[in-house]
Amino acid sequence: MKPFSMVIALIGLNAPISGAIAGEVAGREAFAPCRACHSLKADAGVMAGPSLSGLIDRAVGGDPEFDYSPVLRAANSAGEVWTPQLLEEFLADPEGVFPGMWMSYPGIRDEVERAALARYIVSVSNRDSSSAQQKKE
Ligand code: HEC
Repeated sequence: MKPFSMVIALIGLNAPISGAIAGEVAGREAFAPCRACHSLKADAGVMAGPSLSGLIDRAVGGDPEFDYSPVLRAANSAGEVWTPQLLEEFLADPEGVFPGMWMSYPGIRDEVERAALARYIVSVSNRDSSSAQQKKE
């Protein structure tokens, strides 16, 4: 690509990229309360909640370092796996999806906030686990 057409291409890309960044910022903010108990990195050490690293396509109750409640252990034995859709349902009503789980956190009522949070978790947790590079999430 010639330098000139490269500039044009970058200008063209600018709008969707800044939209994506705004979405990631909203998702990151929505994740702030979760951070008290969860990390999106694999090597976060002991926390109150399981690591959410590589969550999508991971088994429910799938952090080997974490001692899960019976309901999440049962979902794990039944072969349940995290998908973006399950994550959104869970974020709306954790206790409704896994009754009796040990996560004392209510669902997120706001649909827009919930969608931004789900997208953020999907992109960051799986991005970090699939690359050797450490990110500061
Ligand atoms: C007060 C601590 C706490 C907060 C805050 C919290 N969680 Fe949790 N979370 C937990 C615990 C503890 C578990 C494991 C529950 C169990 O074993 O029943 C859990 C489990 C989960 C799981 C299932 C993980 C797996 O391995 O299957 C997901 C996904 C999750 N939390 C997401 C979130 C998100 C997103 C937020 C923020 C909106 C959040 N949590 C806020 C403590 C917390």
